[in-house]
Parts: sequence; structure tokens; C-alpha cells
Amino acid sequence: MTTADDLIKFAKKALRNKKFIVAIQREPYIHTETPDGIKLQKTAGGAHILLDGILRQIGGLMVAIASGNADSQVVDKHNRVLVPPKEKAYTLKRIFLKKKELDGFYYGFANQTLWPLCHAVFVKPIFSAAWWDMYYKVNEKFADAIIEELDSEEAFVWVNDYHLALLPKMLKDRSSKITIGTFWHIPWPTHEIFRICPWRKELLQGLLGSDFIGFHRGYHVDNFTECARRELGVIVDNEPRSLEYGQSQTKLANIPAGIDYHEIKAKLERHKNINRRIFKTHYGITTQYTVIGVDRIDYTKGLIERLKIIDRFLEKYPEFQEKFTYLSIGAPSRIHIPAYKALNREIFDLVEKINWKYSTSAWQPIYFIDRVLPRERIFEYYRVADACLVTSLDDGMNLVAKEYVICSENDKGMLILSKFTGAAKDLKTAVLINPYNIDESADAMFSALTMPKDERIKRNKAMEVAIKENNIYKWAIDFINKTFENL
Ligand code: G6P
Repeated sequence: MTTADDLIKFAKKALRNKKFIVAIQREPYIHTETPDGIKLQKTAGGAHILLDGILRQIGGLMVAIASGNADSQVVDKHNRVLVPPKEKAYTLKRIFLKKKELDGFYYGFANQTLWPLCHAVFVKPIFSAAWWDMYYKVNEKFADAIIEELDSEEAFVWVNDYHLALLPKMLKDRSSKITIGTFWHIPWPTHEIFRICPWRKELLQGLLGSDFIGFHRGYHVDNFTECARRELGVIVDNEPRSLEYGQSQTKLANIPAGIDYHEIKAKLERHKNINRRIFKTHYGITTQYTVIGVDRIDYTKGLIERLKIIDRFLEKYPEFQEKFTYLSIGAPSRIHIPAYKALNREIFDLVEKINWKYSTSAWQPIYFIDRVLPRERIFEYYRVADACLVTSLDDGMNLVAKEYVICSENDKGMLILSKFTGAAKDLKTAVLINPYNIDESADAMFSALTMPKDERIKRNKAMEVAIKENNIYKWAIDFINKTFENL
């Protein structure tokens, strides 16, 4: 199994005299003003937490958008601050955006144009020239911030995700000393879908500034290749996949992201004595079965479908009424976007409707908690829950699925996982579902909850081996390796 030490050794060699820079929209640490002074908070899970883990091991610079109301008070004149406060392991350089910029870039182009364009969930992307201008401008701000940090040295820049599609080309145009690896965490659509985007060529050209682009799944590598071939006429080499465009050469591969197996196991060790009474203490839940769901509240996560599955399950298997609770932890997300506002309302209404349908004086089937909980608290819930529901309609990877499997007690929990997540390829022995098929998914829930202990253990062990092997450190090494291959 690959360890943090392997990554450190590898990175020291591979990045020798190169500066390591990560460009990412979301910062892992935010400073907020409180009545007791400025407090530092670590933001909730996601790619920024993976990259924080890597930077803490090998040091370097992270460039990200400021998001805390006291962020500006703790940075130096170059907007830099050392993080985490005790370790001071790496430098976080913050980009401060005006509200208008954040609106157009993040709430607009990134999350109302690219996000629905790339996820096959039938939410119409909105195309606005004003948002595109802001997206361009903010990508440029990232390029400026990175170039400002470089002297004459060479650098390796790790560009993270769909917020920064234009950055690779912008950097390559300004310096020949930068090697760029980009990881695209969300799906890449087929050409039939992608071609509706007015800025499709610019997006592709921007990304082709990278030396390497990583995706979670082979589908997405193929879709990207086809889009670049049709839109830009790139020359495709298949062994290994590489696209030639003008003078540039960009390699592509699928390298599914892993999680920090060790860190999570170590955290769990501190909560060994947790048992299912935790659900009673925290929420008054006393049923025999508790099924958990942990998500950002996003229309790609199939949250409405999930509630319908629970409704159908209770209807079809009435013996579970009063014995079963679904505990949903939903982190509010992108709440200024109309589609997200509507989703929140729809969830609230449906939860109320289902609870009204089945509740007795002593029991309600669903608890919906719409706030961010500390990671360790969630790990405690994972540990003792009887099942976890991941019902994404389309999802690049889904790390909740992997985290649940390694936290849950092997003989107790079972993962019910949508086939439409990248994670489903790695976690083949989960109970796989098509969340659009409500009836079959309700049956799958029944079989997960009534599965013989031996089989549960067998399936969980197989998944745990896969997660342990393909952990975050292996992923990072693969990513850096691929970027520098044949350069
Ligand atoms: C997805 C994206 C990430 C993003 C995360 C949370 O997983 O791939 O890049 O950070 O969602 O979304 P948010 O809008 O809160 O950053």
C-alpha cells in the first residue's frame, strides 16, 4: 500500500527543483470574525481537502479564492498565509473577488453553465456572456497570482477542476517553465451535449494548455477526446491517449481518486467506543435500523429520488415501519442559485409528506439535518449506521461512498450505491442501484438491510482492499507521474 512517506519521497524526486503549486477554487482554511476574535475553520470535505493533505506532506503553495470574512486580516501583502496554523506546512495565497466577480464566475459560469452542462441530469445550462467574461477574468487572476510567485524557477502547477478550465493555456502562454497537470473531477459530456456551449472551443483550448488532464473515468477521457477531435481537429494517439494540437501535446488518462485511508482509520480509532446509542443521544432515534445519507444538497445527488425510494421501501416492506430511520445530513450548497433553492424547498416538502404519511406518535421515518457537521461526527455515524445511501444521478467520483465503507463496522454496514457514480467502478461489491428505478432501488435497500452477515463482511472486505490500495497517495503519485511521463 502506498503511504504518505512514499508520496513525499516520490514528490521530492519528481519535482526536484520545481516549485509545487495547486490552483483551486475552494480554500481548505477560512478565517472568520467571531465575538472571541478571529477563528480558523477547516472547510468541509472535497478535493480541496485531498489537496490540503498532499500539500501538508510535501509543502508548496496553494492559490484559492478567499471565502472567510476575516481572510484579508491575516494575510501578508502578497495575500499569503501559512497553514495549518500549527504545522505551517505550506503557503495559502488568497484571491479576493468582488461580489460581482464571484457571482459571474462561481454562481454563474462555473455552477449554472459548466456544472449542468457536464452532468447528465437534465438541468438546462444557462449561457451568459457576462458570466463568461467573469469566468475568464477570474481565471486570469489565478494566472497573475501564480506568475507573481515565480522567479526564474521551474514549477509544477496542479490545476483543480472545472472552475479553472482556461488557466492551463493562460499559464503556458506566459511561461515556458511551467508543467501543468489538470484534474477534472466532474464528468465530461458527450460531444452532442458539449457542442451547445458557445465557448466550447475556448474551454477545450484552455484545457489543452495542460501537459496532462486526469479524469476519474474512462468514459470522460473518451468524451473529451471526441469533443477535442470534432471541435479543434486534434490528432489523437491512443497508446497512451494523447492529443496533439498545434505545437502542444496533452496526455489524458483516467485515474480515479482515492481517500486518505490512514488518516480516517486513525481518526476512527479515537471513537472506538461509539455505538448506535449515538443516534438516540443526538436525535432521539431508537429504531433497530438507521440508514444514513451524507451529501451536499445538489440536484446531481438524486436526493428527491432517494426520498421516493425510502417511501416505496416503507410501502413495500411495511414490517420496517417503526423499525427504520433514514438520517440525512445535507450540507447547504450554492444556495443563491434558483435551481438549488427550488431543490431545497422540494426536499423539505417531500420529507414532510413522507413523515406525515408514516409517522406514529413515537416514530418518524426521516430526519433531515441541513447543516454541515464536523467530519469526525460523520465518521462516527458511518461507523454504526446499518447502510449508507448514495443515489447520485451522475457523479464524477463520490468520496462519501469510499469514506462510508472504511468507517463502517464490517459486519454491520452496507453501501447502497448508484451505478452512475465514478465510485461504482471501484466499489463493485456494493449494492448497486439505478436511482431512477425507484421500485428496484427499494428492493435493493431491503436486500442490503437483510443481507446475511457473512456476505456483508465479504463484500465490505473486498471494497476495503480496493480503497486501501488505491488511496490518495497512490492517486497523487499517478497524477504527477502521468504529467511528467515522456516530457
Ligand atoms: C464537486 C466539485 C468540486 C467542488 C465540490 C463542492 O465535488 O468537483 O470542485 O469543490 O463539488 O462544491 P462547491 O461549489 O461547494 O465548491
